[in-house]
Amino acid sequence: MSESVLKAKSNQHNLVNYEETYQNFNWEEAKKAFSWNDTGKVNIAYEAVDRHAENPDKKDQVALHYVALDRKESLTFEQLSLKSNQFANVLKSQGIEKGDRVFLFMPRSPEFYASFFGVLKVGAIAGPLFEAFMEQAVQDRLEDSEAKMLITTPELLSRVPVKELPNLEKVVLVGEAKDISNGYVDYHKEMDQASDQFNIEWVDLEDGMLIHYTSGSTGKPKGVYHVHNAMVQHYQTGKWVLDLQEGDVYWCTADPGWVTGTSYGIFAPWLNGVTNVVVGGRFTPEAWYGALDDYNVSVWYSAPTAFRKLMSIGEETVKQFDLSSVRHILSVGEPLNPKVIYWGKKAFELRIHDTWWMTETGAQLICNYPSMDIRPGSMGKPIPGVVASIVDDQGEELPPNQMGNLAIKAGWPSMMRAIYKRPEKYESYFLNGWYVSGDSAYRDEDGYFWFQGRLDDVINTSGERVGPFEVESKLIEHEAVSEAGVIGKPDPERGEIIKAFIALNEGYEESDELLEDIRQYVKTGFAAHAAPREIEVTEAIPKTRSGKIMRRLLKSRELGLPEGDTSTLEE
Ligand code: WTA
Repeated sequence: MSESVLKAKSNQHNLVNYEETYQNFNWEEAKKAFSWNDTGKVNIAYEAVDRHAENPDKKDQVALHYVALDRKESLTFEQLSLKSNQFANVLKSQGIEKGDRVFLFMPRSPEFYASFFGVLKVGAIAGPLFEAFMEQAVQDRLEDSEAKMLITTPELLSRVPVKELPNLEKVVLVGEAKDISNGYVDYHKEMDQASDQFNIEWVDLEDGMLIHYTSGSTGKPKGVYHVHNAMVQHYQTGKWVLDLQEGDVYWCTADPGWVTGTSYGIFAPWLNGVTNVVVGGRFTPEAWYGALDDYNVSVWYSAPTAFRKLMSIGEETVKQFDLSSVRHILSVGEPLNPKVIYWGKKAFELRIHDTWWMTETGAQLICNYPSMDIRPGSMGKPIPGVVASIVDDQGEELPPNQMGNLAIKAGWPSMMRAIYKRPEKYESYFLNGWYVSGDSAYRDEDGYFWFQGRLDDVINTSGERVGPFEVESKLIEHEAVSEAGVIGKPDPERGEIIKAFIALNEGYEESDELLEDIRQYVKTGFAAHAAPREIEVTEAIPKTRSGKIMRRLLKSRELGLPEGDTSTLEE
């Protein structure tokens, strides 16, 4: 355990006394901050956008600064409200109703944010998809959710197997759309004709709002279903953990195809009424430091992979930019190495605050706060209103310093309400009143939580969650591959990389060309970020007698570790 501590900051933040707040806080009280507490009329899009647009002091404040290589644009809260009204009218005219699933598959752009809120304003359920997804990944998600509409770009349309998707009635194309025929809708043309006034659909706090697909270790991706009530926690963690304050300029680097890009790239900042920066395009150190400098970002939320990348490029690059506006830095998605925290302290003269949560949890649960001494390597402590513990496989709590399942007392506001259409999957997360995360961790005597690893085979590559089963399924569709087992292999920069073990079909010989062809097959057929960086050909993939791939064994062999219990191994 690390002896070192980075001391808490001054009193200039939103959670001055953590211990006291933790003792006294309850979520019912927190709900009083919302306008619906008086009116009974609820919609997260109203709280995040329209409420500010109606406020004479706020409406002209920039809500969104968007910057990409070839485009730079800003929208005020009023403009974002009007544009999302227009899109809500387009959706209505195309027959979209409350509860329909509308998916968004496009790069970050002002149109993305206008359509996203348009979807919420009609009471439909938004499903953002990461733009790196290829045909199979897109099909699986649209099929499972029975999406009625997809909003995409003409460039990405080729990855949408429209004919295979009987429930998909409409495709909205954002961009130069040729051949607008039956079922296709030209975004810009419809927007031009749509009114910018819209009567928002008031919904129930427990009505559906968002579906994010995420990977487990087995089976197809899971549709994690979130409701409007999540806003209570998005708002509150935005205050306490992101420490958002009036006048802040905030930047979350995550794509809205992942939960961080919605909960903290959209909701937390806008519920708190701060200016939000969105950077499109690929990561380069110059573009990133440039964005912090150009927009005078004050609060910056990113991920260990990005910080490691910046660290490897060195402090000299940092010095070429004026980053004096930045006052608070946070991280999520993977373990944050102490080395990175110490580097951040040197390079930015700030602490990097680790935060822990998951797609299923909807919002942050265990965090380092400005008011807290940081123990580098620890994820921090639960936010007020959240009870966290370490439990064994029976759901019994374990004493300090003992490793086990990281678990949360069920019932925080932003918790998923379902795995779409799979109630048994949803139930499997809960044990003895605890939500069991699947992460292993321990808690020290002072209540700090320390992440140890995943208890299942889920891979975390550059903070992106990849299910081995999906990659294996794609691999064995390749004509040369008879069997495949996929693991996460530790990597200094990406946390883990994807490594595939494959057995070849009769008549195929191992060669560099073949392996590259197989890699490309996954990359172009499934998703670029899920393509194995390493492929190794073996005679056979170890399996249990019941036919389950023993990924644990593949991993310990790869790492030269003891093989552990192999009693279930097939002869
Ligand atoms: C991992 C991302 C270590 C963890 C918000 C979790 C972390 C999974 C941390 C969820 C952290 C997330 N330290 N590991 N601070 N934060 N993880 O659903 O294994 O994409 O279960 O949600 O990422 O990934 P997901």
